[in-house]
Amino acid sequence: MKAKAEIEKAGIGKKVRAHHVTHLRCEYLETPLGIDETAPRLSWVIESNRRGTRQIAYRLLVASTPEKLAADKGDVWDSSRVESNQTTHVVYSGRPLRSRDGCHWRVEVWDETGKAARSKPSFWTMGLLKKSDWRARWIAANPAIIKRDKEAITPTLTSPGTPAYFRKEFKIAGAVKRATLYASARGLFELRINGRRVGEDIFAPEWTDYHERIHYRTYDVTGLISRGNNVIGAILGDGWWSGYVGWQETRARYGSLENSLLVQLEIELANGKRLTLGTNKSWTCNTGPIRSSDFMIGEIYVAQRERTGWDMPDFGSSRRKEAPSNKIKIEQSLLTSAATFLAWLSAREVKAPVAPLVAQRSEPVRITETIDPVSVKQIRPGVFIYDLGQNITGWMRLRVKAPAGTRIQLRHGERLKPDGTLYTENLRRAKATDVYICKGGSTEIWEPHFTFHGFQFVELTVLPPLGALASSRRVSPPSRRQDAGAPRIAITGCVIRSAMSPAGCFECSHPGVNRLWLNGLWSQRDNFLSVPTDCPQRDERLGWMGDGQVFLRTASYNVDVAAFFTKWMQDIEDAQTADGIFPDTAPRLREGKNFVGLDGLGGAAGWADAGIIVPWTIWRVYGDKRIIERHWQAMTKWLDWIERHNPDGLRTRELGNNYGDWLCIPSDTTFRTHSPMKNLLATAYWADDAAKMARMARELGLKADEKRFQTMFDKVRVAFQKEFLRADGRLTVETQTAYLLALAFNLLPENARARAAERLVENIKSLDWHLSTGFIGVSLLNPQLTLAGYADVAYRLLLRDDYPSWLYPVKHGATTIWERWNGWTEKEGFFNPQMNSFNHYSLGSVGEWLFRHVAGIELDPDVPGFRRIVLRPFIRPGLSFARASYCTMQGEILSDWKHAGGKLKWSIRIPASTTARVFVPSEPGSRVTENGAPVEVVEGLRVIGREGKFLICEAGSGIYTFGTNWQD
Ligand code: BGC
Repeated sequence: MKAKAEIEKAGIGKKVRAHHVTHLRCEYLETPLGIDETAPRLSWVIESNRRGTRQIAYRLLVASTPEKLAADKGDVWDSSRVESNQTTHVVYSGRPLRSRDGCHWRVEVWDETGKAARSKPSFWTMGLLKKSDWRARWIAANPAIIKRDKEAITPTLTSPGTPAYFRKEFKIAGAVKRATLYASARGLFELRINGRRVGEDIFAPEWTDYHERIHYRTYDVTGLISRGNNVIGAILGDGWWSGYVGWQETRARYGSLENSLLVQLEIELANGKRLTLGTNKSWTCNTGPIRSSDFMIGEIYVAQRERTGWDMPDFGSSRRKEAPSNKIKIEQSLLTSAATFLAWLSAREVKAPVAPLVAQRSEPVRITETIDPVSVKQIRPGVFIYDLGQNITGWMRLRVKAPAGTRIQLRHGERLKPDGTLYTENLRRAKATDVYICKGGSTEIWEPHFTFHGFQFVELTVLPPLGALASSRRVSPPSRRQDAGAPRIAITGCVIRSAMSPAGCFECSHPGVNRLWLNGLWSQRDNFLSVPTDCPQRDERLGWMGDGQVFLRTASYNVDVAAFFTKWMQDIEDAQTADGIFPDTAPRLREGKNFVGLDGLGGAAGWADAGIIVPWTIWRVYGDKRIIERHWQAMTKWLDWIERHNPDGLRTRELGNNYGDWLCIPSDTTFRTHSPMKNLLATAYWADDAAKMARMARELGLKADEKRFQTMFDKVRVAFQKEFLRADGRLTVETQTAYLLALAFNLLPENARARAAERLVENIKSLDWHLSTGFIGVSLLNPQLTLAGYADVAYRLLLRDDYPSWLYPVKHGATTIWERWNGWTEKEGFFNPQMNSFNHYSLGSVGEWLFRHVAGIELDPDVPGFRRIVLRPFIRPGLSFARASYCTMQGEILSDWKHAGGKLKWSIRIPASTTARVFVPSEPGSRVTENGAPVEVVEGLRVIGREGKFLICEAGSGIYTFGTNWQD
């Protein structure tokens, strides 16, 4: 299992050099190019195995060149020695940063013994900070390229058109010292220079509300440009800008079917000269081999239409290179003719957008791994079903050797029907079909450009049909000797996602639970594509905020999501209405003409509240105060709006689409209806928003706001109790989620909490120890049971595998988290395909509990950012070991316990410059040792006392191994 390997790699006891500074990050990213944050925050990690290592001072040095940095000259910023233990979010305070600045930096730290350590150099660069820095013009394709090309398609509101290719030749008279490329698009770009791809980004620029802001990306292209003739090329696809988004019946959600491009290439020559080359009408355009491409529909690629060498400098002079390699005509409608030889026409300059261009501040979308199919079966002549063994988001890379004109069609689906054919009904209107038409000759390797699919199975159809192809594990059906003309085909799954770094891994003694954790991780990978989406396969793929907020803590344990959610929070604020209503999905889907669906998509409890929960969580987990400062007004406006409409303290009005505890059991999927449960849920979220705001106001030193939101919380809490709490301690609405909300959000008087927890457990018991929570309740379920003293019930829920439970899908082969508990059951088969995704992370939010309470790696309630850590594993029957590793901003935390024969061994690692409150599970009165010695005498530990089955110690950084008696 991967987790094990990861932990061993990081391993407890691993020799870490004493006091070593590493992992330098600027605005959460390693060596980011082209940022537009003018006061970026710098962070680093100190690694040390020595107990109690603490930073007592640092010095930051930022230089304009690597040479200056090496010579110790901080001409951009020299912080001098600062007496401080701060290792994260140190705000740059050097000279004002300007467009294009190169910032080479390093940090030197001193520990409590006075010893210094220096990091290796790192860097970031500044982007184009002023509008006037952009000399390039926005360009679009000349419509004539489509009109004159019989095989090209004009885009319409219902079908995608043929993407345009652009090119520009230029000459460089001297040696190139540095070349930087800035690029943006309304649509998606793929850039090439001299035949090579620029960067590895996919789907750039990423999704924003294009009326509010548009991303640009910065690339270092020094290695791609040379003295003499050069060419820059671009392919422009539809993506979120002009393609299908969500379940909409029409495309062009942002008001235009026309894609446009902005590219600015800045070259610094060795002789000091600077050249700038930007898109303008001197660029030329043409159609190419991509016949059409759309996220939902798929891509059609006619390889015979490739204009070989189009992105190379000598292309213009030797047109013959463009000739198709083979002229065999098989599928007339799709094959090339004179089009291949059509001249390139001038591009059109178009109006620049009004929305500002901003640097993308999160990790780009990339292919992060590839997966070979585990099996292939021929289900009809020429039709094969491949199984990747894992539900992924991405596309298939095709390797084929076949006669020209052979048509290979790939349809994607998450499941198979009982008869072994592909199940696509749940994709709704997403066609998820790619087509490749071979050019013939040697082996062809292809992958799509501007589409993606959510799938585990691929149906591959070859036309004209072939004889039987052999199946093999590597699935490269060889042509049979007697059928020499048959194609050789191999396909590989490419996983596509926002390329964030891994943060944590979890493993325990139960293989099903390990798979459950992995399924959550996969659903996260598959859905964190530019924004956190609900699902990657059907015609939806939206940034649903309820899903995002319930899963955020889990997500943050799995992967470093700080930059990703910082970007998404901007999308959320961009989507807020002038009145203050946060949306239910972000980026906002533009309403207006042709908008079909849930009117307004805003203000729903548990969804819109993500506008407060996201900044709160990013602050708590990463110690990021800036995100709460930046969105303070927006968050305040949201609560002002709720209060205005619900003056009595109960949130019963203006509930938007009112999803309630979405997909709970029995599930209620009627929108916009009211019910006491929905009122309870909305009121509880309002109260919790107010409590979070009061705490964040304290952090920001906003005294009046703190008071105001504390008063708001008190008022809503009182109203909640009046409306929903009965004299006998029961709630008027008796669902699991109702009790969970009341407990988690501190809505009950102290003396009613125990009764509420009892009622919760009675409810679970009455369902024969099954859960009934939906999206909202599920993330609270095991944490609240554990904190209320019912960890045994939480374990019991975790470990059962009959319906409904977390392990039920696992038992039935799930490789991702399903949208609904009953997505498929033995009794009923598939649920109604209208809403039945097999890759929706929300119900997988139990992942946070695995880290927080099973492994026991928890935030301190008072100190954000894991600067102080709580380590407290709850060990209950069913698991004999559990271990987790988690990389925080401060460094890596490990927790690894196992018990057998009445003995417990627990090893932990606490990162340098942090402290932890350690709760050692142990029988009262039993001897607790660390590395064989009684804890009381161990250096670095201070015993504080006992709380039931925990001995409590304070610990400084380092590695500790506890031993004690333990009865299961
Ligand atoms: C989505 C959900 C979302 C919900 C709102 C669904 O269509 O797939 O995940 O949160 O609508 O209730």
